[in-house]
Amino acid sequence: MHNRKSGSFHLFLSVITTLGAIVAASVVAAQSADRPWMNPNLSPDERADLVLKQLTLDEKLALLHGNGMAHAPQWQMPLSHLTNGGAGYVEGVKRLGIPPLVISDAGYGVRDSGANGRYSTAMPSSLGAAASWDTDSACEFGTVIGQELRAQGFNMTLGGGVDLAREPRNGRNFEYAGEDPLLAGSVVGNLMKCEQAQHVVGDIKHYVMNDQETGRFFVNAVTSKRAMQESDLLAFHIAISIANPGAVMCSYNRINDDFGCENSYTLQDVLKSDWGFKGFVISDWGGTHSTEKASAAGLDQEQPMADFFGPKLKAALEAGRVPLSEIDDHARRVLYAEFLSGIVDDPPQKSVVDVEKGLEVAQRVEERSIVLLKNNSATLPINPSKVHSIAIIGGHADVGMISGGGSAQVDPPSGNAIMPPGKGATIWQKPVWFPTSPLKALQAKLPNAKIDFDPGTDANSAANLARNADLAIVFAYQWLAEDMDVPSLSLPDHQDALIEQVAAANPHTIVVLETGTAVTMPWINNVAGVVEAWYAGSSGHKALANVLAGDVNPSGKLPMTFPKSEADLPHPDRPSIPAESQARVADVADNGAPTSNASAHAGYAVHYDEGAAVGYKWFEAQKKQPLFAFGFGLSYTTYAYSGLSVDSTAKTARFTIRNIGNQSGTETAEVYARLPKGAGESFKRLVGWKRVTLAPGESQAVTIPIDTRVLQAFVDGFDGAKDFWNLAQGDYEVLVGSSSDNTPLTGSLQVQ
Ligand code: BGC
Repeated sequence: MHNRKSGSFHLFLSVITTLGAIVAASVVAAQSADRPWMNPNLSPDERADLVLKQLTLDEKLALLHGNGMAHAPQWQMPLSHLTNGGAGYVEGVKRLGIPPLVISDAGYGVRDSGANGRYSTAMPSSLGAAASWDTDSACEFGTVIGQELRAQGFNMTLGGGVDLAREPRNGRNFEYAGEDPLLAGSVVGNLMKCEQAQHVVGDIKHYVMNDQETGRFFVNAVTSKRAMQESDLLAFHIAISIANPGAVMCSYNRINDDFGCENSYTLQDVLKSDWGFKGFVISDWGGTHSTEKASAAGLDQEQPMADFFGPKLKAALEAGRVPLSEIDDHARRVLYAEFLSGIVDDPPQKSVVDVEKGLEVAQRVEERSIVLLKNNSATLPINPSKVHSIAIIGGHADVGMISGGGSAQVDPPSGNAIMPPGKGATIWQKPVWFPTSPLKALQAKLPNAKIDFDPGTDANSAANLARNADLAIVFAYQWLAEDMDVPSLSLPDHQDALIEQVAAANPHTIVVLETGTAVTMPWINNVAGVVEAWYAGSSGHKALANVLAGDVNPSGKLPMTFPKSEADLPHPDRPSIPAESQARVADVADNGAPTSNASAHAGYAVHYDEGAAVGYKWFEAQKKQPLFAFGFGLSYTTYAYSGLSVDSTAKTARFTIRNIGNQSGTETAEVYARLPKGAGESFKRLVGWKRVTLAPGESQAVTIPIDTRVLQAFVDGFDGAKDFWNLAQGDYEVLVGSSSDNTPLTGSLQVQ
């Protein structure tokens, strides 16, 4: 109903609304006139420069260090409470609209959600993602993590591990993406590109040669420039060029004598000058050891404290030992990363994590990551018309699956599945099981089968259960965590003996591995099948049940070599710290890291004399047979390769793959190349791959670009002459097939 009174009220309202809109518009106009860096149409560089001009010295310096770490009593500072329960906090510049960095670890999911009363999805480990050889999966992996970081109030991640699995006993291999620079760089690059696209500052770590955890705070990784450039640095370069991350974390270890966070070769010469990295270098936590040296070498931000880049940096500036241009460069880089990643324009809003989405993506990624290593007489997939009883043994498979520890640890909902509720979910260096029971998932998948469980603690009892079942599945685990390496590649806790005994009792024994790196398998000839599930994440049990039951045809391939024994590795003996160095390590700084003094004298070095011959390259160069080769993985169907033609101008390999079995499947076709004869290099290098999905009988012609970045030789200029890359002229043998040791097609690439 309309009357005069309500009419004038509406008029009044619309006048007010219009006035309001005018005021708001002029505020925005005034704001962008006052704050031209808020104009999203300017480039991140331009915006960073504009802000930099406004900053006081103290505001600049505040961007260059952390303010402590939540949950770390030794790392507390006045602003530590602002970390949002995360790993770090860097002040922003509120008066100019520059947000603080609120930083969390997020290797395979957001860390410490349990301790902070929140929830996070655990994706399969990065090594698992690499086993999918699928950059789309990597992207989905990163997207979920980026979204969950934001939902939990973080705007920066500390994920993106891409150190090569050069040392298979490295306790952090599950955080990395295997042994090949092209595969690892592509997987981690896509993961971080998509994570940063959610508007969080991306990070790639631990730069560089952080290839073992033993003595990680001081070990000196000794290697030639060429070797490093063609292996670990190449992986970083590829990842960084794809992800364009806001940050790169320098590593704890030394590289050819200088610490990763004060190494002018790796930081200044390579990362910033040669590669043109425009973001900021963030130190690993407690990995800063100096002020002037680190600043000049290219470290931009100390974490998590301000021991070297706080008052000491200001004093060094005032005393003329550090130029203002250096401070400006550090600060500009932090600002650049903020604009680049979108956190200024689109700050995170805390919300509830999309649990369903996380579970769904985690399952899909894991389904593509599982690697079928052995499958005699088509024991898998489980055939319900033949298999009526199944003995499930070991690995706490009744309650869950294991996860990787350290700063990548994701907290399982309701705590560690093999400990009393509420205990242990966030314990450093204690194995944590997710409540993802493969037993329950298999029971749900095969409701008509009789499925029994034996914990495997008594091998005789387990063998008895297995003897009377149609199929036995032993779940075997190998737990890894940061700050430790495994003593050997043997399965721990007498699991080899358990498997032997079960296999002796039942010829239809399948071993499911939940491992974070390679393991040896002394029982391999006695079991019918082996499935590598890695650390399977929040939906690992469902993905695994789908593969075992045949609803999903496995398509993963190994991203690292599985050796027969440690004796075949470049460094057969476990890296250990000389007693003399151990003693000196006692000399530590307040922040828990060794002082530069102690470390400089620690004298503990690992000489990577194998150079760029990492993993399969080493095995090939040494003519050693691995247990399972890099790139290997079976399917429930079979593929045939034919008709290779190499186009030397377009630098592509073209061939046909045919599914000659009777099930649909996805095959990863791999392309390798060998340097021309004169190069004196005996191993091949992965130059490309493609995942191809084929129905039974279907064939497809595929064209795969040959990535010549990985075929170039790095030529060290020595004595001040310029280094350069050289793609040697000549005839490159091109090899195509299903794994690094099965390449039925050969051709040749001419480079003139
Ligand atoms: C690890 C990093 C991690 C940092 C913060 C360090 O000990 O090496 O990977 O991001 O801690 O938790």
